[in-house]
Amino acid sequence: MNEATVEIGKRKDDAATASANAGTRTKQAKRARVPLYPSKLPLVGHLFRAWKDPIGLFREALAAQPGAVRVDFGPFSYVMIGSHDSIKHVLLDNAKAYVKSRNYDGLKIVFGQGLLTSEGEFWKRQRRLVQPSFHRQKLAKLTTSMAEVTRRTLDRWKVEGTPTTVHDTMMRLTFAIVGMALFSTDVEGEASAIGNALTIGLTWTNDYAEAVVRIPRWVPTKKNREFAAALRTLDELVFRIIRARRAEKEPGDDLLGMLMAATDESGEERMNDRQIRDEALTMVVAGHETTASLLAFAFYLLAENPEWQDQLVEEAESALAGKDPGFEDIPKLVKTRAVIEETLRLFPPAWAFERQATEEDTIAEGTITKGAIIGVCTYLLHRDPTYFPNPEVFDPTRFYPGAGERHKFAYLPFGGGPRTCIGNTFALTEAILALSMMIREVRAELVPGKKLELDPRVTLRPAGDVPVRLLPRPARVEAEGHAPRSAPTSIADRAAVRGGGLTRRSP
Ligand code: HEM
Repeated sequence: MNEATVEIGKRKDDAATASANAGTRTKQAKRARVPLYPSKLPLVGHLFRAWKDPIGLFREALAAQPGAVRVDFGPFSYVMIGSHDSIKHVLLDNAKAYVKSRNYDGLKIVFGQGLLTSEGEFWKRQRRLVQPSFHRQKLAKLTTSMAEVTRRTLDRWKVEGTPTTVHDTMMRLTFAIVGMALFSTDVEGEASAIGNALTIGLTWTNDYAEAVVRIPRWVPTKKNREFAAALRTLDELVFRIIRARRAEKEPGDDLLGMLMAATDESGEERMNDRQIRDEALTMVVAGHETTASLLAFAFYLLAENPEWQDQLVEEAESALAGKDPGFEDIPKLVKTRAVIEETLRLFPPAWAFERQATEEDTIAEGTITKGAIIGVCTYLLHRDPTYFPNPEVFDPTRFYPGAGERHKFAYLPFGGGPRTCIGNTFALTEAILALSMMIREVRAELVPGKKLELDPRVTLRPAGDVPVRLLPRPARVEAEGHAPRSAPTSIADRAAVRGGGLTRRSP
C-alpha cells in the first residue's frame, strides 16, 4: 500500500516490465492539494501504521476528512477518496488521466502485459480481444464444468470427510474451476506445485510493492531465487498447455481456445504465445484467490447467521430439485446471490485499488497533482451508512431485487469504469453455483473461542483461516439443539483486522 519506495540498481529488463507508463511516474510527486490527515511523526508520517493496519488508518483519515484525504508516508503521499462522485470521476469520467499505480509493478513482473497490468492502446486492444470470451453464451458452457468440478470436490468429501481448512479448500476448488474453464484440463493434480509457485510469486510481489528499498530481481537473494524458480514453474505449465493445444487441429471452446481464436476487427491479428500466457496466468491468479476468499467469508457469515443457511438450503432444494445447477438455474437462486453480494460488501477481496495520475486533475475536494497516487478502499466504501444503513450488520436483503437504488459507485467489489473486472459474471456465477451445491451437503459452524482475523494485502483474505468448521449435513440434522439465532449480528464485534482496527468499532 505504501508509496515510499526507493528503487536501487534497477536493471533494464525489470524497468521495461515494471512500468508501461514510466514517463508518467515521478519518484516524488508534488503533494496533492487535498486536506491532510496530519501525523505526529513528522519524518515517517503514517508509514508504520499503514503497514500494520492500513484499514484502521484509512478509516480514521476518512472519518476526519470524508470526501478525500491525503495521508503522507515520509516524503510521499497518498490520496484516499471517500466521495462517491470523486471516485466516479477518477475511475470513469476522467479515467484517461490515470493509470494503475506503481504498486502494481511487482504484479507486472508476474503477469507481463496481461489485462490486469497493461495500459493504454495495448490494454484496449487486449480487452476487446478477450471480452467476447466472457459473454453470456460462453459462460453458459463454462457453468457445466464449474458444476462438475464442485461435484467432484463434494464426492471426495464424502469419502475423505469434510475438510478441516476452509480457505485452503476453497482455494483448491476455485483453482480447479478456473483451470478447467481455461484449459479444459484437470489441473488439480498440479495444484500443489502451482499453488506453491503462486504463493511465492504473490508474496514476492506484495513485498516488492511494500518495500521501502526494492532489491532488484537479479540480486541472488533467497527470495529472488525462489521467485525466479516459481516463475519458471508457472511458465513451464502454461507454455506446455499452449504448445499442446497448438498441436491440435481445433483450438477448443474453453477460455484458452477462445484466447487463441480471438482476432481483432480486421480478423487478421491474433495473440502470440507470450500474450496468451500473460492473459491466462492473469486469469488464473485474478480469478481464483478472490473467489476462494469470497466463499470462505460467505461460510463464515453463514456460520454466524445459521437462519440464512437454512434459507439457502431451502432455496437450493426447491430451485434445483435435487440436481446440480446449470446456467439457467442461477437466476432462481435469488437468496444465494444476495448472500454472495452481501459477503462482497462486508469482505471485498479487492479491498482497495489504486490509480496514479498522469496529469494534474481537479476533484471536488482539491487538486490531484501529476504522479499522485489515489486509493479507493472498498472495505470502507461498503460501510458508508448513506447507502448501507447499519453497515456492520449482515443483511443480504439489501441485495434483493428492487431493494432500492444506490449511487453507482457506492458498491464496487469488481471495481468501476473501463477497468472493471472482466470476470465479474464468471465469479458471481461460480460463487452462487458452488455455494448452492455445498450448502446442501455441509453445514458451517463457528469454531468456539476463535475470532476472524483479516489480512489485507494485495487482496483481503482471512489471516490463517476463517474460524469455521464444515460438518456433513446429515450429522448436523441428528445433532439438533444447535438452535438457529434470529437476530442479525454485527461484524465489528467479532472480526479483527490483524494488527488492530475493527474490533474496537461498534456498529
Ligand atoms: C470474487 C471474485 C473477484 C473479485 C472480487 C475481482 C475483483 C476485481 C477488481 C476490483 C478489479 C479491478 C481492479 C482495478 O480497477 O484496479 C478486477 C480486474 C480484473 N479481474 Fe477480477 N475479480 C474477481 C474474479 C475474477 C475472475 C474469476 C477473473 C477471470 C477469470 C478475473 C479477471 C480479472 C481481470 C483480467 C481484471 C483486469 C481487467 C482490466 O483491467 O481490463 N477476476 N477484478
